[in-house]
Amino acid sequence: MNITYYGHSCFGVEINGKNLLFDPFISPNELAKNININTIKADYILISHGHEDHIADAEAIAKRTGAKVICSWEINVWLGNKGVANIHPMNTGGKVKLDFGNVKAVAAVHSSGLPDGTYGGTAMGFVVESTQGNFYYAGDTALTYDMKLIGDYRKIDFAFLPIGDNFTMGVDNAIIASEFVKCNTIIGMHYDTFGYIKINKEEAVNKFTLSGNSLKLMEIGETIKI
Ligand code: NI
Ligand code: MN
Repeated sequence: MNITYYGHSCFGVEINGKNLLFDPFISPNELAKNININTIKADYILISHGHEDHIADAEAIAKRTGAKVICSWEINVWLGNKGVANIHPMNTGGKVKLDFGNVKAVAAVHSSGLPDGTYGGTAMGFVVESTQGNFYYAGDTALTYDMKLIGDYRKIDFAFLPIGDNFTMGVDNAIIASEFVKCNTIIGMHYDTFGYIKINKEEAVNKFTLSGNSLKLMEIGETIKI
């Protein structure tokens, strides 16, 4: 799998020749000003919840690419009203088989209002299963015991976890989350974009290393192979 970081909680993941894009928030992000949203490839856009910092560019990228958007029922209605035609609604606990693998929507402990105040349904995370491996994209969430269910459900090869604290779990809780999902390869997200979530990155990486896990903090625009 090829993973590209677009800043904040936005990643592209290429699996079995298909491009998945998670939580597109790029054009309002000063740290991602070198990323051009008009060149990002997407066959699927997965949206964890309705907050602006996860959905800002979803409409534009969905309309340009025709990608299938995977999101809550409520976000599906909201995007549908904006003219996005290709949407697959889900809710927590559900799984869908797609051409690259499966997506299972899992619990997240977080709110989900859309930018105009519309209710966005329940916030969720995703477990992606494929012949190239499995991973967990947590979205915005607190540490929760429900993450143990993910570790019992599948062998998770790597996980995207929020580490910025304040609106989500921070580094110390993310280390416990990595134990709960039984995965020691973590890619950090949801940090440094705003004043509320600025972190000491060196300290975060060291804490993960001391706990026997590894935390990768990607450069914006960087692509890695896992
Ligand atoms: Ni949020
Ligand atoms: Mn957020």
